[in-house]
Amino acid sequence: MIKMKDIIDEKDKRLRVISKDVTFPLSDEDKKHIEDMLEYLTNSQIEELSEKYDLRPGMGLSAIQLGIPKRYFVVVNEYDEGKFENYVIINPKIVSNSEEKIYVELGEGCLSVNREVDGIVPRYARITVEGYDEEGNKIRVRAREELAIAFQHEIDHLNGILFYDHIDPKNPYKDQNKYRAI
Ligand code: NI
Repeated sequence: MIKMKDIIDEKDKRLRVISKDVTFPLSDEDKKHIEDMLEYLTNSQIEELSEKYDLRPGMGLSAIQLGIPKRYFVVVNEYDEGKFENYVIINPKIVSNSEEKIYVELGEGCLSVNREVDGIVPRYARITVEGYDEEGNKIRVRAREELAIAFQHEIDHLNGILFYDHIDPKNPYKDQNKYRAI
């Protein structure tokens, strides 16, 4: 079971590494990591379990956040009260995006960044991502709104980018009126 201490912190330079493509079949180790990452995110979004295991709530995790420089991430999305859907995307690529951009009004968060960061992180409102599932089948996923933001946030991790890299430190709310708040 993954605990908070297993998730590497923003000060750790490994978060700046560009992760490498995954080859198939997946190793048993990677399969186990994926299972553990999904379990963490699900438990973290269930108040009773997040308190019990002391988990900071999160919706997405990329392999590099566990120190594994491989191109995959998982997202657990609560699409309805108490109902979760899991996404596992390996070697993801954004193949199309909306023109419209959005941002999280309350600020984006990250399990590797244990502090509040003010400012606007512009993200595409809608994207299509291609990649592979755990069996190596090609997949194509359309995402919008919060889910689209989560995918873009995680894909950034695979390229060594943290969400606040998109914020202008001198003017964190720059161009705010160009984007839609969600
Ligand atoms: Ni993150």
